[in-house]
Amino acid sequence: MKATNYTDTIASFPSFHNMIGKSKAIRKVFEIIKKVAFGDAAVFIFGESGVGKELVARSIHDFSERRNHSFVPINCGALPDSLFESELFGYEKGAFTGAFQSKPGLVELASGGTLFLDEICELSQTLQVKLLRMLEENKIRRIGGKAEIPVNVRIVTATNRDVESFLQNGKLREDLYFRINTIQLRVPPLRERRRDIPLLADFFLKQFETKYCRQINGIGAQALQILQDYEWPGNVRELRNVIERTYYLATPPTICHTDLPMNIAKYHIENNRQKWDKLTYKEAKEMVLEKFEKEYLRHHLKKHKWNISRTANICEIDRRTIHRLINKFNLRANHTNGKNTGE
Ligand SMILES: Nc1ncnc2c1ncn2[C@@H]1O[C@H](COP(=O)(O)OP(=O)(O)OP(=O)(O)O)[C@@H](O)[C@H]1O
Ligand SMILES: [Mg+2]
Repeated sequence: MKATNYTDTIASFPSFHNMIGKSKAIRKVFEIIKKVAFGDAAVFIFGESGVGKELVARSIHDFSERRNHSFVPINCGALPDSLFESELFGYEKGAFTGAFQSKPGLVELASGGTLFLDEICELSQTLQVKLLRMLEENKIRRIGGKAEIPVNVRIVTATNRDVESFLQNGKLREDLYFRINTIQLRVPPLRERRRDIPLLADFFLKQFETKYCRQINGIGAQALQILQDYEWPGNVRELRNVIERTYYLATPPTICHTDLPMNIAKYHIENNRQKWDKLTYKEAKEMVLEKFEKEYLRHHLKKHKWNISRTANICEIDRRTIHRLINKFNLRANHTNGKNTGE
């Protein structure tokens, strides 16, 4: 099998830098990234867990004038206060037991570049004050040091918490929040951009194929529909995990609906029943018809290697209708060697 690298894989998908997607919601995010990348305004990224906040932060850095310097991510929730401070600001030799030599902190290492403070709401009150001081003065002092070292970093922060309630109960200081919140960027949950689900699923599948060299030719129409209907509480991360797990367990050539994890299949059955409860006979019939149109067309396009004229002849549908349905259902060829050749 031809080995493709990550960059090749990404290039064959609608994407922005390192992010896959073409839904309206994600394109809006791409637009904001492009606008805010230039300049030094502090960006505050919020959104549910697994939506891609760190990817957004990296894209902002990579599109900024700071791209030739470091992007330094720090997880504010991962370290106890004492360690966090020495990690962030560094220390001088002898500052504490075990400080055998001086060490610059992450802020110094990020100088000229971007400091990404992830999970900002987890930062303790004491550290919030210290961080704010650094941001206001653009200087740091290493633990045990006397000299004030000037720093030049762009601050990008992120959280998956409900910021309003953290502000209300005083867990996040308002003065710090105002300082880091010049530009707000919301990354929408995956269920608000369902159009990206087939793309992302295909993309992850390609990544696993490249990594593990076991070829699966794509995801069957029914499985794809189930993935698109699911709510994805864990967002893109959950989708990636599901594709990885399914990739291992599926029997080639394609992933079909029976290969999907139980919780997702179960959700689909429940959800369908609930949908029928709310629909009139006419609406329910239209829904089923649409599903049929999509599955029928996918099947024939795949069978005839995306030759539109042949598909039109055999199915006795005119080509314009086929093009209209391809656009309507956002269909595309599943494998790289079977590209959508159009005619
Ligand atoms: N648009 C996208 N295209 C490709 N991969 C994506 C996209 N969005 C997210 N991912 C992938 O999903 C996973 C989760 O993304 P990321 O770590 O950026 O999320 P997060 O919002 O920071 O999550 P958390 O709140 O848990 O920290 C990563 O493996 C990332 O590469
Ligand atoms: Mg994150």
